[in-house]
Amino acid sequence: MSGIFALTIDHWFAILFYIGGMKTFKNERLAALLERERATYVETHPQSRALYESADHLFGRVPMTWMNKWAGGFPMSYDTAHGAIITDVDGHTYIDFALGDTGAMAGHSPEPLVRAMQQRLGVDGGVTTMLPTEDGEWVAAELSRRFGLPSWSFSLSATDANRWLLRLVRLATSRPKILVFSYSYHGSVDETFVVVGPDGAPALRPGGVAPSFDPTTTTRVVEFNDIEALQRELGYGDVAAVLMEPAMTNIGIVLPQPGFLDAVRSACDATGTLLIFDETHTFSAGPGGATRFYNVSPDAITIGKSLGGGVPCGAYGLSADLAQRVLNAVSEGADIVDVGGVGGTLAGNAMSLAAMRAVLGEVLTDDVWEPMIARATTLAEGIAATAARHDLPWSVTQLGARCEYRFSSPAPRNGGESAASHDGPLEDYIHLACVNRGVLITPFHNMLLTCPATTDEDVAAHQRVFDEVIDELMA
Ligand SMILES: Cc1ncc(COP(=O)(O)O)c(C=O)c1O
Repeated sequence: MSGIFALTIDHWFAILFYIGGMKTFKNERLAALLERERATYVETHPQSRALYESADHLFGRVPMTWMNKWAGGFPMSYDTAHGAIITDVDGHTYIDFALGDTGAMAGHSPEPLVRAMQQRLGVDGGVTTMLPTEDGEWVAAELSRRFGLPSWSFSLSATDANRWLLRLVRLATSRPKILVFSYSYHGSVDETFVVVGPDGAPALRPGGVAPSFDPTTTTRVVEFNDIEALQRELGYGDVAAVLMEPAMTNIGIVLPQPGFLDAVRSACDATGTLLIFDETHTFSAGPGGATRFYNVSPDAITIGKSLGGGVPCGAYGLSADLAQRVLNAVSEGADIVDVGGVGGTLAGNAMSLAAMRAVLGEVLTDDVWEPMIARATTLAEGIAATAARHDLPWSVTQLGARCEYRFSSPAPRNGGESAASHDGPLEDYIHLACVNRGVLITPFHNMLLTCPATTDEDVAAHQRVFDEVIDELMA
């Protein structure tokens, strides 16, 4: 069987393209092409290489160790980034579909953000003072309008938003555990590094770096889209909250099956469990994120990254009921003001708030999603057509402005299946061949994201490059 079948789920812009077929490429050919692309990369990036090799004081030779994820052996150092275009120190220009893996979903340095930063830093002054500015209420009100939750607090990362919110839900419910879906990612939050192991029991996620406690003792875990397993685990009555992305985005994209999110909401209600949506990536679904897109009402939401256009920020929103339960616990002695474990000195600072106001008010406005999503659809359709032309058993999944391909078909239904479809050398070849031809996709899995500055020409250029890269693999 081969061909493309578009299956609409809930709405036209959450689409799976199933690509059937049995044909594959030869591994020797893949190895040879990867070798060639690596040689080309080294040859054409002498400045980036020199900077990398002379970075003797950087642990791992990069400012953050995950920057070593890029497939070429060393990352490109970049010089400029504007809109959807990055230029590196060797003078190469890239169309950027990685977009700081969502931190730059607003595009790089959009003019309103630059203006707001200049105003805050250069004119009004004061990055951080331990005092509020009027931007805070504006941003919180805008988040309320978009996501439907009335009360918001700020952090400097989505990780911290999750970390602090987990404390609040345990405080409000007096329950010790949380539940996550296998192979989810919510930042470096210890409790979340649990997967469903080969025997079906909770297991440490492979590669975990010395968590401060054994997360299998704090966390229940089930596969995404498995409502029976979720009901069973919540039935123990010890889970404070389910922490989930409404669609998984960090092990490829895994969409919720029709009715799954409503069933999750019902299972939470039936067991007195709170429901947290992590919208950090699923914000790509629309101006009110996947919460609005799927029309489900969580008790709390976390978000970060793109909200401030890449300026450090994060936020968590609480329902009126949850906020009241936290306040009740506060009146009995819980400390959310001083050293109780929620908050950070720089959280909610004036610069971060000014950035969020500029991005929400003038860049990621309600009207920009439609063209961003249309371009992501064109990307997804083009990738699916190329794979189908070669009879490759791959699948392409789209969530609003974000799309992703996986090396399996039909598209994985949960994190375990998606993890199993990973193919390191194939991914490295495609990623690096794209870099060598001026296109960036996320260095983690195969995600492409559009921003307001992404153009039809950018999308067409990706298609030309992708065709060339896959045609050569299959020749
Ligand atoms: C869904 C989700 N939540 C939270 C985070 C953590 O974000 P940050 O690293 O900016 O704290 C990520 C990062 O990729 C994410 O994908």
